[in-house]
Amino acid sequence: MKHKMICLIIFLGFLFVTGFPDANTDTGTVPDANSQLEKVKAIFKKSCTGCHGGLKPDQELNLEPATMMSDTVNVSSMEKTDLKLINTADPSMSYLLMKIKGDPNIVGKRMPKRKKPLADEAIKTIEEWIMSLKET
Ligand code: HEC
Repeated sequence: MKHKMICLIIFLGFLFVTGFPDANTDTGTVPDANSQLEKVKAIFKKSCTGCHGGLKPDQELNLEPATMMSDTVNVSSMEKTDLKLINTADPSMSYLLMKIKGDPNIVGKRMPKRKKPLADEAIKTIEEWIMSLKET
């Protein structure tokens, strides 16, 4: 009896760690929009939310998972009011992208501020995700 309980606990623990079967439809071959979004959230969490998070986020831009879409998608930049942080009509004109790439036309600093620039791979992930939001 005790042995069965231990087996059950280990089994449940295993499910908890690996995720329930079927819960993840990502095949790992095609980067579907959802896994791309999760990667972007992870990058923001690691490199941005220290400043762009909490109750008083820098530049009123909150990049925490719950607000990163509503605070960026088709929202005007405060620094360059004629540009959107993420522009779904013309993704390459997204100011957020310019800020992480260090475009010569940005106002203020390249992001993440006071840190090393993001790795090329991370910039590519964010860029691909922004491009995928293009409205046709
Ligand atoms: C050390 C704090 C800090 C970190 C880390 C940081 N930022 Fe910023 N961010 C700021 C400040 C302060 C400003 C305004 C001044 C400036 O642009 O230099 C700003 C401005 C911005 C703007 C312009 C907002 C607008 O409305 O025009 C964007 C976009 C941005 N950050 C994105 C990011 C992203 C993406 C990351 C992570 C890769 C990041 N930031 C990391 C502090 C930070």
